[in-house]
Amino acid sequence: MDDRVVPFVDLGRTHDAINGDILDAIEAVVDSGDFILGSAVERFERAFASFVGVGHGTGVGSGTAALTVATLATGIEAGQEVIVPAHTYIATALGVMHAGAVPVFCEVDSVTGLIDLDSAAAAVGGRTAAVVPVHLYGQACPMDEVAAFAERHGLVVIEDAAQAHGASWRGAKAGSFGHAAAFSFYPSKNLGALGDGGIVLTDDEEVAAAARRWRNLGQRAKGEHVEAGFNTRLDTLQAAALSIKLRYLDGWNASRREASTIYRERLGGVVGVLPRRPGADDVWHLFPVLVADRDRVAERMRGRGIGVGLHYTPAVHMQPPFGGQDRAGEFPVAEAWAARELSLPMFPGITRSEVERAADALLESVGDAGR
Ligand SMILES: Cc1ncc(COP(=O)(O)O)c(C=O)c1O
Repeated sequence: MDDRVVPFVDLGRTHDAINGDILDAIEAVVDSGDFILGSAVERFERAFASFVGVGHGTGVGSGTAALTVATLATGIEAGQEVIVPAHTYIATALGVMHAGAVPVFCEVDSVTGLIDLDSAAAAVGGRTAAVVPVHLYGQACPMDEVAAFAERHGLVVIEDAAQAHGASWRGAKAGSFGHAAAFSFYPSKNLGALGDGGIVLTDDEEVAAAARRWRNLGQRAKGEHVEAGFNTRLDTLQAAALSIKLRYLDGWNASRREASTIYRERLGGVVGVLPRRPGADDVWHLFPVLVADRDRVAERMRGRGIGVGLHYTPAVHMQPPFGGQDRAGEFPVAEAWAARELSLPMFPGITRSEVERAADALLESVGDAGR
C-alpha cells in the first residue's frame, strides 16, 4: 500500500485478530439451527444491557429500527411531536417518523454539535411528547441538563446512542439515562456487526416488553398479535458475532481516544476541534474538525491520499423528506456544521504515524485551500 494513504476506516484491523472466534460463534449458531431470536440473541441482549448498565435490551434490525421501536414502545402516539436536533444523521428523524410521530427540529451547540436545550425549549408545543438527544460523534450529551429539561416539559427522553457505545456522562454510560435508548451496530460503529443491527435499551420492564412486541409483528404470545408491529429482529448470526466483539469494545475505544489526543495536540488552535468537557468521557466514533472552504479541503485531503468523510450535509431539515432547500436558514448553527464539518480517519488500530500524516495533510490542505 502507498504509505501516504490513510484510510478513513479500516475494519480489517479490528477483525483480523478475532475472525476465528467470530466464525466459531457463527458455526455454533449454524449447528444449532436456532436462526430467529433464540439464545444467542438473548445472551447478547443481556451482555450489552449490562455493559451499559440498564436492565433490558431488545435486539432489532438496525439503529433506525431501534429509534422507531423505542418511540412506539415509550408510548409516543401517531401525530405527536418529537424534538430532534437538526444536525445529526437523517436516521434520527426518520426513525421517529417511521413510528408515526412528527420530528420537530431544534438547533445544536456551535462547539459540540450536541442538542441546544434553549432551542429545544422553543420547539416545545402542545403536541410535544418526547426529545431525542443524540450523542453525536461519540460525545455523551450532558444528560442531567437534558433530564431536567424533559422533566420541566413532561417529555419522554429517547437517547440516540448510535455513535456512543461506551461513552459516559458523569460516570454513567450513554444509553442509561433516557426512558429508552437506541444503538446501531452498523459495521463501522464503535461496536459493529457484520451487517445491520441495533438494540433498544431501557430500565422499564413495560417498555422492554412493548419493544419486544414491536420488533416481532406485535406478538405478545404465540399467535397473539396485539399491535401492528414490524419484523425487525436482531439477526441471530449478528448477535453471535456481536457477543464476541463486545469483549473488545473498551480496548477499541481506548485506541480511538489515543488517536483523538494526537489529533487534538496537532490541530487544536488551528482548526475547530471538539472541546474537552468536564464530566464527559467520549468515545470518538468520528474525529470531526470545522474548517472554512470544507469541500476544497476535502478534495485536497483525498488528493493527498487521506480518507475523509462529511457528517452530515445537508442539515436534516434541508433533506427532501423534511422540506429540502426551502427550509434553508431555519437552523443556522446546524447549517454551519453541515457546511464546515470534515471527519478525519478514525478507527481502532490507527497508528500514531497515520494520525500524524492525516493531521499534517489537513494543515497543508487548509493552507492550500485558503490560497
Ligand atoms: C446518530 C445516528 N442515528 C441513527 C443511526 C441509524 O443506524 P442504522 O444505520 O443502524 O440504521 C446512525 C447510524 O447509521 C447514526 O449515526
